[in-house]
Amino acid sequence: MLSKKSTVKVPGDYGRTYAVETFGCQMNIHDSERMAGLLEQTGYVRVEDAIKADVVILNTCSVRERAEDKLFSRLGQISADRRQKPPLMVVTGCLAQQEGTDMFERANQVDVVVGTQAVRRLPELLDRAKTLGSNQIDVNPYEDVSFPLGLAVRTDPVKAYVTIVEGCNDFCAFCVVPYTRGHERMRISSEIVSEVKAAVSSGHREVHLLGQIVNHYQCPVDQECDFAGLLEKLNEVSGLLRIRFASPHPRHVNSRMISAMRDLPTVCGHLHLPIQSGSTSVLRAMRRRHTRENYLDLVERVRAAIPTIDLSTDIIVGFPGETEEDFQETLSLVKQVGYSSMFSFKYSERPATLASRRIPETVSESEKTQRIVELQLVQRQIQLDLNRQSIGTTASVLADSTSRRHDGELSGRTGGNLVVNFPGDPLWVGRLVNVIIRKAGPHSVWGESVTLGEAGQINAN
Ligand code: SAH
Ligand code: SF4
Ligand code: F3S
Repeated sequence: MLSKKSTVKVPGDYGRTYAVETFGCQMNIHDSERMAGLLEQTGYVRVEDAIKADVVILNTCSVRERAEDKLFSRLGQISADRRQKPPLMVVTGCLAQQEGTDMFERANQVDVVVGTQAVRRLPELLDRAKTLGSNQIDVNPYEDVSFPLGLAVRTDPVKAYVTIVEGCNDFCAFCVVPYTRGHERMRISSEIVSEVKAAVSSGHREVHLLGQIVNHYQCPVDQECDFAGLLEKLNEVSGLLRIRFASPHPRHVNSRMISAMRDLPTVCGHLHLPIQSGSTSVLRAMRRRHTRENYLDLVERVRAAIPTIDLSTDIIVGFPGETEEDFQETLSLVKQVGYSSMFSFKYSERPATLASRRIPETVSESEKTQRIVELQLVQRQIQLDLNRQSIGTTASVLADSTSRRHDGELSGRTGGNLVVNFPGDPLWVGRLVNVIIRKAGPHSVWGESVTLGEAGQINAN
């Protein structure tokens, strides 16, 4: 339990500055952008530092216990810093949804709790807290997944997040997301296209389509428009240079999707294929609905169609029941596929999930640590080898930022999602640059620019 509020809050004694801190995934980041838009529309002004804000929003994640711990330590820190004048404290996102009214008990400095599907009610709940007092909450499920066009305040000048699918029906045994994000709901394709056009007209050159199983997309009012169909529509948006998406599920990668990735010039040559484990028996216990064999078969089909594609993955080590042999199967799969990047996690038991209810943990914390260290070492070498092979080649890089550490240096990504650092003019941010790769590390490469590519036509129609 965190310490009690030292100052009693009186309804109505708050100004209109806000700060938002984001703890979760890309979808969570985009929800923060949406909340910023909703607040600014009602006259709130953003400040970067929570210490100066009248309203502090902590947009949380619950995917692993560590994410949860981070929230409570941050809440404690803000309370300590703001002892004289506590801000109106708002907790949103997946942990807010998971905890509901318990959030007020677990941290009594929290005034407002907004669930993942109630984002649009944020301004109203703030008003209620100001006039009626604390403990305002909405964690109800809402079917409506539309969002007012052009309202989100996008924080990245080059890439724009666009949610296309909300929620998930898969219930993988380890995963809390179906509980925190609700059942799967799709946005209408015309709305998605309009949002992408609006993002392009405000200068964005790359879109990241978001969904828990993004490639399960099916437009609710157009039978013809599946995920591949949506990619085709977005490929037509003039001025858009690149399309990326996260996260696809291996089971929904079909031949239409592979062809769209091969044929549409704006769709990046990178496919994230979360495997989670290289052992079919662990995958079965995880309820992932793919096996080692059909996954490897998919990798072969994708590579046969698009030989240059870069693959990445997510892996969990130490799922209950994972033996040393199972883990060795994960290592051998990782070596066999040769991923260009990987996110790896130690299994963390989450409330309400199937695994937490039915499968007792069998792998100790120290074994999990040993396994993840070994896995990451193997992966580091694979990445270093792959990145070294790119030395001497010319890559088309979308410059996305200037370096904070080195003056005159830019950073960007290849279509395959490799980070490339190179000397260049800050005005090139948002443009494609051809870069010759000269030096390689495990996580990024360095090069020199040769020619400038397309800046992108701007067309809001
Ligand atoms: N919808 C995405 C995953 C979203 S969660 C998909 O199906 O790929 C992102 C990643 O977090 C997952 O791929 C998984 O590797 C990891 N993860 C999810 N729950 C976890 C848990 N309980 N413990 C450790 N890692 C977990
Ligand atoms: Fe979680 Fe599985 Fe759904 Fe991904 S597909 S969000 S891992 S339940
Ligand atoms: Fe975390 Fe929720 Fe995203 S649990 S990973 S913020 S969907």
